[in-house]
Amino acid sequence: MDRQERIGELTELAEEASRCRACPLWEGRTNVVFGEGAPDARVMVVGEAPGKNEDEQGRPFVGAAGKNLDELLALAGLAREEVFIANVLKCRPPGNRNPLTEEIRACAHFLHDQARIVNPEYIVTLGNFATHHIMRTDKGITRLRGQVHQVGRFKVMPVYHPAAALYDRSKQEILEHDFKLLGTLLAQ
Ligand code: URA
Repeated sequence: MDRQERIGELTELAEEASRCRACPLWEGRTNVVFGEGAPDARVMVVGEAPGKNEDEQGRPFVGAAGKNLDELLALAGLAREEVFIANVLKCRPPGNRNPLTEEIRACAHFLHDQARIVNPEYIVTLGNFATHHIMRTDKGITRLRGQVHQVGRFKVMPVYHPAAALYDRSKQEILEHDFKLLGTLLAQ
């Protein structure tokens, strides 16, 4: 698929998501947060679900965790615009509670289509939630991080969630280490 075809398919998918009422989260949303970034990115970053800021702005990772994510990407030699950023859920769960199984079931096809269209080399999963969903495992992030796992045609790199590291210096150091590793892998 060339860049133009990818843009076309992503635009169509985003329009479908903007009208989605497949689970009850549509009732509480201000905006659907489809995701954004380069349509032919080498790296796709996957978070959990939009928070308050994201719901208000309709864009992923625009709050404090997003600022941390931008700085982490820079350690890998990546600008935010170069990657594709999405979440497992496209609408904000009330009070930022964890996503429910039915919500994931209703929503996951959007993420899977995004991965098919962008076709990244690496998928970086942020935190336990996205990691469990993409890797289909219950293993904890602490055991999975620091390595690349082949999942179908994608190389998956699980890392701590940048929000979880905001107030935990040791997690932040490990996250920084992992993003530098990503930069090294991308340069090879
Ligand atoms: N946390 C997430 O997992 N996703 C966002 O978009 C923002 C915060």
